[in-house]
Amino acid sequence: MSKDHIYEYWEAQGQTHGESHWASWGDNWMIDLEIDTIGKHIKDGDRVLDIGCANGYSTFRQAQSHKQVSITGVDFAPSMVAAAQETKMQKGFGEDVSFSIGDIRSLQFPSNTFDVAYTTRVLINLSSWEQQISGIS
Ligand SMILES: C[S@@+](CC[C@H](N)C(=O)[O-])C[C@H]1O[C@@H](n2cnc3c(N)ncnc32)[C@H](O)[C@@H]1O
Repeated sequence: MSKDHIYEYWEAQGQTHGESHWASWGDNWMIDLEIDTIGKHIKDGDRVLDIGCANGYSTFRQAQSHKQVSITGVDFAPSMVAAAQETKMQKGFGEDVSFSIGDIRSLQFPSNTFDVAYTTRVLINLSSWEQQISGIS
């Protein structure tokens, strides 16, 4: 994985903002709308992948608002994943919520691991159409 200025930016955001929505974006009202809109595509019991989950701000909200979902968040910035894991521990989420480091361009999950995969404001961080196609794939 190349550690360019985009990576450095998000790594710093994760280090600075802890569990706050500011790690991802200052507009928490718009984030609420995103969470509501994406949540309509998740059914109780689904296995869900949140790609580019940042500090898990939205991931936890989806876990809380659906029954028996298992939700995995991945992000390429270690500070974001560390913040998510810290919040998970503090708030007492169980093993149905998990986080790991991963790059949307090279995820290693076997096919059919998830019922729903979503990504919010992450593809915009990929600097070419070829990389965005790779991420979508
Ligand atoms: C604008 S934030 C969005 C966070 C979250 N999806 C949300 O809706 O609040 C973008 C996130 O994407 C992550 N990201 C950027 N490029 C990525 C990549 N190539 N692979 C995985 N995560 C990436 C950043 O580290 C950052 O946490």
